[in-house]
Amino acid sequence: MLKIGIIIGSTRQGRNGEAVAQWINDFAKNRNDEAEYELVDLAEYNLPLLGAALPEAAQQDAGTAIKAWSEKMASFDGYIFVPAEYNHAVNGALKNAIDYLNPELNNKAAGFVAYGSLGGSRAIENLRLILGELQVADVRTAVTFSLMTDFENMSVFKPADYHADNANQMLDQLLSWSKALKTIR
Ligand SMILES: Cc1cc2nc3c(=O)[nH]c(=O)nc-3n(C[C@H](O)[C@H](O)[C@H](O)COP(=O)(O)O)c2cc1C
Repeated sequence: MLKIGIIIGSTRQGRNGEAVAQWINDFAKNRNDEAEYELVDLAEYNLPLLGAALPEAAQQDAGTAIKAWSEKMASFDGYIFVPAEYNHAVNGALKNAIDYLNPELNNKAAGFVAYGSLGGSRAIENLRLILGELQVADVRTAVTFSLMTDFENMSVFKPADYHADNANQMLDQLLSWSKALKTIR
């Protein structure tokens, strides 16, 4: 059974990312694929900035958080990243969290579900560049929700029905590459 992690990239209080990640988690689970889907909430890990000097009292908690993040990400065969788009790029918290990883991600596959004024496309393209360095095979089809038309008041998630086609394509591609890459690890 393939294991797919769905990563909530935004850690912002009041974030839209949680509802979007929940949507793709429910959507994926309803397909009855031969895969286990698991939501991973980056906010729960409370990762420090990479390399930051921490007070001694905080060092043990930081070490525990980094280890838990690394082990969780290593446990998957593939990923669905749900990045926020900040200033035409992936949000900083997700980039920082990815910078802790390398072998955990090598020779695995990833798909994207994003949201923003242009559907988060620039965050996705930025993430493709980053993941290439980590030997992650990113699939072509992505799901991109518009803050203007898939949210009420840019904050209440009401996705249009047509996104289901892209979600199915993205998941088909992700599962096929996750399965294929398992054979070379
Ligand atoms: C610092 C910052 C920069 C942003 N820059 C962009 C941007 O470049 N393009 C865009 O479409 N939306 C941008 N937005 C809007 C976010 O996409 C929107 O607020 C989204 O809900 C953020 O995800 P989150 O709510 O899960 O944190 C920005 C928001 C913030 C906080």
